[in-house]
Amino acid sequence: MATATREQFFQTMEEQGIALTYDDVRMRTRSGSSGPLPEVINIRSKFSENVELKVPLVSAAMDTVTESNMAIEMAKLGGIGVIHAALSINEQFTEVRRVKKASHSVIDEPISVRDSDTLESVKKMCAEKRFNFSTFTVIDADGKFKGVLTGKDFEYPESLTVSVGEAMTSVEEDNFSSAPVGTTLEEAYAVMQKGKINTLPLINEDGGVGGLYLWSDVKRNVRDAEAYNVDHNRQLRVAAAVSTGEDALERVEALSRYADVIVLDTADGDSYYVFKTLKAIKEKFPDLDVVVGNISDGASALELAEAGANGIKVGQGGGSICSTRPETGIGMPQVTAVYDCMNALREKYPHIPVCADGGIKDHGDIPIAIGVGAHSVMMGRVLAGTKEAPGDVLVRKDGTRYKTYRGMGSASALRDNEASRERYSANGGIFLPEGVEAYVPYEGDLKNVLGLCVLALRKGMRYVKSPDLEYHRNHTKFFRITGSGLRESHPHDVEIIKQ
Ligand code: IMP
Repeated sequence: MATATREQFFQTMEEQGIALTYDDVRMRTRSGSSGPLPEVINIRSKFSENVELKVPLVSAAMDTVTESNMAIEMAKLGGIGVIHAALSINEQFTEVRRVKKASHSVIDEPISVRDSDTLESVKKMCAEKRFNFSTFTVIDADGKFKGVLTGKDFEYPESLTVSVGEAMTSVEEDNFSSAPVGTTLEEAYAVMQKGKINTLPLINEDGGVGGLYLWSDVKRNVRDAEAYNVDHNRQLRVAAAVSTGEDALERVEALSRYADVIVLDTADGDSYYVFKTLKAIKEKFPDLDVVVGNISDGASALELAEAGANGIKVGQGGGSICSTRPETGIGMPQVTAVYDCMNALREKYPHIPVCADGGIKDHGDIPIAIGVGAHSVMMGRVLAGTKEAPGDVLVRKDGTRYKTYRGMGSASALRDNEASRERYSANGGIFLPEGVEAYVPYEGDLKNVLGLCVLALRKGMRYVKSPDLEYHRNHTKFFRITGSGLRESHPHDVEIIKQ
């Protein structure tokens, strides 16, 4: 059967004035029994021009979805999290920094204790400063490196009144290893593995302490970090949202120290204030990637690209907690919106990635979003019930567990924070909520929830024989389904015992 290309398909829809969303379409399978196996399919992508993803999934900039715990885990799983902006500049900066420091391989400024201190005084300091570690570099009165004190050094002395100098492992001992400042992670790994050592202090030219490698971090960063989404320093990648308010530039200035990418996040990404803020950010921080949203049509995508955006976020009114469409009457259904934006950028700005934001209900929506042209998919609801999302796990009388998930334009979010009021232009006397507050079932570890999303993407790509994401983005064909097709698409005519 001759099949329309994706372009012909969407053109026909457009001619008829029809816009589609996930439930309206399905991907066509392709023949080819030697197609790629799910596990070898390459799903690397980009969130913005210069920020890569190992897994094309992004956690939403919402106060019930992404703070540092979520962003750390998202990056460890290969994606990226966008830390929401409903925080003071300092709070948001701290959240972003926590992500960057989370899988730090070298401790730049390790805490040093003096050789003349007693173990007792070190223990007291740990309690006062709430240190949850017990490895210290040791220096003398002149700041010269003398040895290393670790948790086990507290175990053996009869009394804690002994000095650190007596209890530590001294630089004078045989087999003591240290290395010069500038030693790379790989070099540290080789030395530590060979010598079976847990700590490798880095010494500067003056004989003082210039850093510290710990085997637990070094091992993880070399062996386990294959899947992590990391920057050139092997630190986890992280994004941070800003709004168009007066403090936007000040916020970007603070965040830019650690954030890999800024997301200029508003409900109407094609507005005077967005272009003004984007221009100001790009003027002051030309090397910082800025993803801009949200929009839902190609003309806006093109204008934003022309104004310097390094990524476009698409989605207006499709979010699970969103009431923008009934409240204001706007909103292009998501499949057509993503296609339209990708299509508008294709000729002149093919390097500017499109992120499909919101509206993912079923796992299968993810390969569809990418098949119509997205480089990445942002999710709120799917991730809001995980352990890593902010907020407590609540328990109902019947024992079921759940968490709260709210729109950033919901009445309570608008009341609670300035960023929401800016996002939804609600700084006048009365405001019109464009979102709701909701409950979602508690889902446990993000690793499992995201794992299923990734598996579904790989399986969807396998059915259509796409070997990598780029191919999938460019060659997937679609057809439109009817109401009966949708009914047939889900389990039907059975009494479901278990999902
Ligand atoms: P979800 O994945 O379907 O839950 O949608 C999440 C997306 O909805 C977010 O990434 C935002 O773009 C969008 N969003 C968040 N809060 C609101 C709101 O209050 N109204 C409309 N859209 C919202």
